[in-house]
Amino acid sequence: MREESVFPDADALSHAAAAMIGEAAAIAMTARGRFTIALSGGETPQNLYRVLATEYATQVPWDATHVFFGDERCVPPDHPDSNYGMAREALLARIPGLESRTRRIEGERPAGDGASRYAEMLHREFPHTAGTPPTTFDILLLGVGTDGHTASLFPGSPALSERSRWALATQAPAGAAVTNRVTLTFPALDAARTTLILCAGAGKRAIVAQIRAALAHAGERYPVARVTARGTVHWLLDEAADGGPPGSS
Ligand code: 6PG
Repeated sequence: MREESVFPDADALSHAAAAMIGEAAAIAMTARGRFTIALSGGETPQNLYRVLATEYATQVPWDATHVFFGDERCVPPDHPDSNYGMAREALLARIPGLESRTRRIEGERPAGDGASRYAEMLHREFPHTAGTPPTTFDILLLGVGTDGHTASLFPGSPALSERSRWALATQAPAGAAVTNRVTLTFPALDAARTTLILCAGAGKRAIVAQIRAALAHAGERYPVARVTARGTVHWLLDEAADGGPPGSS
């Protein structure tokens, strides 16, 4: 199932995402006694992480929350381009004990090594029996690049066709912040219960329009348009990315 919501601005989008995370956490606690969330990198989620660390400091069951990542740039965790480093600064270090329940992708290792270690850990955390579809995170956060990439699944990448391994070494196009990456693959991403795709800013307006047009024809060109979930894939846009009603831009 795919849903879409448009918010007046990026801050309203962050607050809506935080509320959805709070609700998913409550449901997960009742059902399974723990809450699992996979974070994304990039700029868009940084405000959400700050909202979670402040306004939701007591509204999420952090003591039972386990944090994962959808992708990582191949740099050490204290590097300014590290997704883990960004999340640690904005959220993880601000909630007592949360870093100890965070499983980061080891960007300081050779990418293939970091990917296989992360995949092994995920299989231990989210065990499933052969022949039944796996389920991973209660909430998966993803972003959208201006080329339609998500996590570190870029258009044209061989990683898009992976059907069994849950994490792979991959390459971002030249010019991206750090080209060597580790990314989760569709088998792991699509196994999330609920996925929130955060998309804000006028810089995303063109790709949003292209993805909407492509979705009418299955959206194969754009990695982000291929994401599914066990439950709902919920797109959260701000008005700048949405482009407003026809004729407004
Ligand atoms: C990364 C990502 C990536 C990101 C998008 C959107 O490591 O760069 O996880 O997929 O989510 O590029 O990034 P912005 O939020 O900065 O636009």
